[in-house]
Amino acid sequence: MAWKLSFSPITDLSLPSDVFPKPPQRIPIFPRLPLNLCAGYHCSKSISSSARVSVCHAVKEQQVIQSPNSDSTQNNQTDPPASSKLVLVVGGSGGVGQLVVASLLTRNIKSRLLLRDPEKATSLFGKQDEEKLQVWKGDTRNPEDLDPSLFEGVTHVICCTGTTAFPSRRWDGDNTPERTDWEGVRNLVSSLPASLKRIVLVSSVGVTKFNELPWSIMNLFGVLKYKKMGEDFVRNSGLPFTIIRPGRLTDGPYTSYDLNTLLKATAGERRAVVVGQGDKLVGEVSRLVVAEACIQALDIEFTEGEIYELNSVKGEGPGSDPQKWRELFKAAQVQ
Ligand SMILES: NC(=O)c1ccc[n+]([C@@H]2O[C@H](COP(=O)([O-])OP(=O)(O)OC[C@H]3O[C@@H](n4cnc5c(N)ncnc54)[C@H](OP(=O)(O)O)[C@@H]3O)[C@@H](O)[C@H]2O)c1
Repeated sequence: MAWKLSFSPITDLSLPSDVFPKPPQRIPIFPRLPLNLCAGYHCSKSISSSARVSVCHAVKEQQVIQSPNSDSTQNNQTDPPASSKLVLVVGGSGGVGQLVVASLLTRNIKSRLLLRDPEKATSLFGKQDEEKLQVWKGDTRNPEDLDPSLFEGVTHVICCTGTTAFPSRRWDGDNTPERTDWEGVRNLVSSLPASLKRIVLVSSVGVTKFNELPWSIMNLFGVLKYKKMGEDFVRNSGLPFTIIRPGRLTDGPYTSYDLNTLLKATAGERRAVVVGQGDKLVGEVSRLVVAEACIQALDIEFTEGEIYELNSVKGEGPGSDPQKWRELFKAAQVQ
């Protein structure tokens, strides 16, 4: 059963007490998070027909995420207008997920997190207004945690759950690729309301080639096969979807650090974004770029029903410019 965490009086909750038998606890979240995850980009698109990719190069040498506690961000930033979206982020404590959440806050887009350990929201995001960030406790392996009340008001979903490809402590409690990348995704998708405007699923490059070398090595414990099964379930769900398949992830996760450390993270020089289709890309991609792609896809209508692979390389990038992301996604599709 999913738990919404709130310090508000119980009367604040619109949820039936039998669904939440224990008193809810609000996770304190900081007042505002004016991250500037992707500021300062300039785009020049080039296309490689052989690779079926579109590329956008960045001008700036460093991509600095500003601290919300710094004077400059507290005093000089104007909040963008509030969005009508409510984005459920599943896996928001993970490397990509934490950047998705931070960026949604920067954009003044409301988010709801489903976390196995809600305390992680406190350590990652600090105090935050419940109007902007809500935290629910739940595990995607447990269908009963995906109660309909979790999805009330949710307009969009970004799912960036995952575990390690090979046995590790993160498999403790049977949190294997089969359980997270297949069963968890299946449970989540099965629970989503038909009114949903978009689900963005973070998968992986190589999922269509898990029987071929070198992918078969990565797939020794089934991670690519189970991610493909998760993808297929999304594709066949009838829900409006976009699937993002990153290459090997760089930059983060920053989950061992406090917020200020997270906010000082940089993507370095590798800001150029390469978007492909057909599972041909094999390179690396910054988690910052993956997070941005997920958020951009929510609003780009023609990304519905599409699957994109993602790399990032040294050079100019699209930053958070919607038009540049439109061009990147479109160019990948028309090749
Ligand atoms: N690492 C790579 O090079 C690579 C390459 C391609 C694709 N990918 C995929 O890209 C995505 C993002 O990767 P990442 O490294 O940024 O993620 P990550 O740091 O591994 O984070 C995974 C997230 O999933 C959550 N999660 C795991 N099991 C869950 C469950 N049973 N119920 C609910 N939440 C659960 C974790 O929550 P907890 O905090 O509770 O653990 C965490 O928030 C993943 O799907 C990953 O497989 C990774």
